Amino acid sequence: MYDDVLALWKQCEGIGISEADSRESIMSYLARNPGMSFIAQAHGRPVGAVLAGHDGRRGYIHHCAVHPNCRRQGIGRQLVNRCLDALKDAGIQKCHIFIFNSNDDGIAFWKSMGWTTRTDISVLSRTIAPAPDTHVMPEEKSYENDDCQTY
Ligand SMILES: CC(C)(COP(=O)(O)OP(=O)(O)OC[C@H]1O[C@@H](n2cnc3c(N)ncnc32)[C@H](O)[C@@H]1OP(=O)(O)O)[C@@H](O)C(=O)NCCC(=O)NCCS
Repeated sequence: MYDDVLALWKQCEGIGISEADSRESIMSYLARNPGMSFIAQAHGRPVGAVLAGHDGRRGYIHHCAVHPNCRRQGIGRQLVNRCLDALKDAGIQKCHIFIFNSNDDGIAFWKSMGWTTRTDISVLSRTIAPAPDTHVMPEEKSYENDDCQTY
């Protein structure tokens, strides 16, 4: 399943894949945040996926993606709502996402669901350890999903 979801993310513009998406890192993330990340499936193949978790204070959603053939059917909205329900159940009151400033469609998606752009804060990052020599790019996989109704 990891390889299929990674292939899906790689097919979706606006999703930045890095060493933080290695199999080991994703398994660690899921173990730290059980029951908060979701996959939408059609015919046993993932057509949507999202990661969510929290640090005890705030929630974070990452890599929300829906296969290009399956968009505008409410799958993205349902994935996000599942994450928010899980975060709320864990006592989390606010959730943040990171999105590329150039991702106009993605920003429209989040805004349509009531998310607002923060103009009072900036995200600053610093590398604190060299990236391990981790292979995060499985063989290229591409697949079509004509029927996205069942998931
Ligand atoms: C963003 C994304 C996850 C949306 O998935 P989706 O399943 O198509 O979204 P939904 O069908 O649930 O859309 C919900 C609402 O969001 C808005 N929306 C979704 N895509 C939109 C777009 N391209 N342009 C404008 N509004 C959009 C609409 O208001 C839509 O409701 P409507 O279809 O009734 O008008 C999907 O387009 C995607 O995978 N994009 C590439 C990855 C990405 O950019 N992810 C976000 C960054 S984390």
